[in-house]
Amino acid sequence: MKSYKFFFVLIALLLFGNLSFLDAQVANYNVPILKLNNGIEMPQFGLGTFMASNEACKEACLVALKNGYRHIDTAHAYRNESGVGSAVKESGIPREEIWITSKLWPSEYGEGITMEAIDKMLARLQTTYIDLLYVHQPVGDFVGAWKDMEKAVDAGKIRALGISNFDDSDEAFHAIVDDMRIKPAVLQIECHPYAQRINIREKVKPYGIAIECWYPLGHGSKELLSDPVIGEIAKAYNKTIAQIILRWHIQEGFSVIPGATNPDYIKENISIFDFALSDEDMATMRSLNKEKRFFNMTLEQKQGFVNMKFDD
Ligand SMILES: NC(=O)c1ccc[n+]([C@@H]2O[C@H](COP(=O)([O-])OP(=O)(O)OC[C@H]3O[C@@H](n4cnc5c(N)ncnc54)[C@H](OP(=O)(O)O)[C@@H]3O)[C@@H](O)[C@H]2O)c1
Repeated sequence: MKSYKFFFVLIALLLFGNLSFLDAQVANYNVPILKLNNGIEMPQFGLGTFMASNEACKEACLVALKNGYRHIDTAHAYRNESGVGSAVKESGIPREEIWITSKLWPSEYGEGITMEAIDKMLARLQTTYIDLLYVHQPVGDFVGAWKDMEKAVDAGKIRALGISNFDDSDEAFHAIVDDMRIKPAVLQIECHPYAQRINIREKVKPYGIAIECWYPLGHGSKELLSDPVIGEIAKAYNKTIAQIILRWHIQEGFSVIPGATNPDYIKENISIFDFALSDEDMATMRSLNKEKRFFNMTLEQKQGFVNMKFDD
């Protein structure tokens, strides 16, 4: 009788053990990991949340986390960090298995001011640490902000630091990259097949700074998402144009964070780890570059961001 019971326990363990193991494999979609220049590992692919209301953002994050995403990109300026935090909590997935990125706005820059802003951000995100924290724009006192960000790393509140949109200003780029104690691990910039950002990619190479692409789908550009050349490639792989574009990002070595609130898009976008573009198709994708940006705002126009304050 004893061996009979043991047999059932063994079968149950094998069945349920294997099932949950398989679930985990499927759920993770084999998303590759990028090792940053500070040795920390970041999932190469994640969910963008720009323009999503707090509630829509929470729903999108829940769908994403259920479908294998383990990396979410938000910012104080998006006003949806608490939606991200709530989704992470409700998902039941251990916090340390999810990569959370956020960004400080220029009105929060300055020694002392930034540390307080980081503590408020942690409260909105309902977490004790942020995986990657960016200075969102290269205007205002980003050097003062960086000094507090370094202290926050020392205190265990932040794991990696990044610069966002620092392609706008050579002076700002070098002030952080050359002069600060902790070097940026990631640069977040607009990048997609129509603006492949060749020059800035060369500029960051010596520092080992990873590139993370915003507007990876051209912010949903109809022109890019119906490009006939990409359409032909998509047909050959039985994938959508969006999937071919995202796969191109991955094979270029970028971190990529497509934004989506539509659950079908969220699932479609992560279904890119079961195929690879050939060298020839990568070359065709590269040939589409015309350095055409979809978001065009001058550094002078961005100076106004310094006075743009949020009430939380
Ligand atoms: N650092 C910065 O200054 C900065 C600036 C902009 C963005 N970002 C970050 O980068 C992320 C990505 O940029 P983004 O969201 O603006 O643009 P995006 O990812 O290029 O495009 C998002 C748009 O494409 C649509 N879409 C998503 N998947 C699709 C698919 N498979 N087929 C067709 N349409 C699809 C979305 O629709 P639905 O919403 O209807 O699902 C949404 O309208 C942002 O969410 C944000 O986290 C950072």
